[in-house]
Amino acid sequence: MSLLITNIGELVTNAPREAVSVASPGPFEALTDAALVLDGGLVGWAGQAARAPAADEVVDAAGRAVLPGFVDSHAHLVFAGERGAEFAARMAGRPYSAGGIASTVTATRAASDEALRANLARLAREMLSQGTTTFECKSGYGLTVADEARSLALAAEVTPELTYLGAHVVPAEFASDTAGYVDLVCGDMLTACAPLARWVDVFCERGAFGADEARAVLTAGAAAGLQARVHANQLGPGPGVQVAVAAEAASADHCTFLSDADVDALASSGGTVATLLPGVEFSTRQPYPDAPRLLAAGVTVAIATDCNPGSCFTSSMPLCVALAVREMRMTTAEAVWAATAGGARALRRTDVGHLGVGARADLVLLDAPSHAYLAYRPGVPLIAGVWRGGERVT
Ligand code: NIG
Ligand code: FE
Repeated sequence: MSLLITNIGELVTNAPREAVSVASPGPFEALTDAALVLDGGLVGWAGQAARAPAADEVVDAAGRAVLPGFVDSHAHLVFAGERGAEFAARMAGRPYSAGGIASTVTATRAASDEALRANLARLAREMLSQGTTTFECKSGYGLTVADEARSLALAAEVTPELTYLGAHVVPAEFASDTAGYVDLVCGDMLTACAPLARWVDVFCERGAFGADEARAVLTAGAAAGLQARVHANQLGPGPGVQVAVAAEAASADHCTFLSDADVDALASSGGTVATLLPGVEFSTRQPYPDAPRLLAAGVTVAIATDCNPGSCFTSSMPLCVALAVREMRMTTAEAVWAATAGGARALRRTDVGHLGVGARADLVLLDAPSHAYLAYRPGVPLIAGVWRGGERVT
């Protein structure tokens, strides 16, 4: 069954430049007066509406915009409890610290599978209704062999992009034995989690893990078949970005406090994306990352939510696009590219983040004539329809 979506006022394709059926997203590209054909769950054709081929069914977009579905490459969705009081205290002047993670670890360990599953399903539904068609999900609130493996097994019910984050923080029972905890993360915990995950991540930050510990975790993860991603330079300057680039990580995430050497390392990395998480700065009152500096240096930039109960409890990619434009001084095109194609690059995915022929038919119909409205009308529910794998899901 093929579907023609026609009368599209603006079609953002990010189509690959190479003439192959499926490839990495290309640069930002938007067509006007466009149409799109979905066939067999993939994009079958994209171009000028006047030249569109016939299809079994037709949807009239009535001049509205169509974008690739958002790719949220950084989220922590397996948790129990909430930290609204911590947020309120922060807005009253208390600074964010990694220490809050411990309270979520306690709640998550105590929660039933059913409670964790229900929370995951709720957040996955929220994401989909806001146009996110691909998302990554980390463990990291279990921090025992059984609880980390359980987190990944539950997350596998909602996404294939699974990240082992046993190295989120050192749990209380290892407070005086960080080395022992790193051994566990690189040993029995990894053995239990590696078969369940695609990625390994580490929170490389003062108060979490240092450079040597982070390298040990990424090296052990790689030996177990996991590709690297790193929480880097979130709360202050540090070695995270350099560790990420040296490990050929797919992404260095946060990138809030960068030296010139960090920017250079990302620019010459050849494959490490800088994933910016502006919802975190919004929710912690930290300074925003310097996106124009990264873009001017030629770094590939992605935007993601970092949805988690502590530093940023939003699942909304449209909000993150608006923050990226207003607070990080990205253009509307740069922000939308970073939230779609950039996320795909950060997950090393060639099939999503763009609407070139052969891409997965993951797309969003906006109740607006152009992508710019995501920032122009912040906070307004503009997602009029979502297709995933060619099926209309909202
Ligand atoms: O990405 N930085 C580390 N982890 C999360 C925060 C987790 C939490 O506060 O619960 C983050 O910001
Ligand atoms: Fe995070």
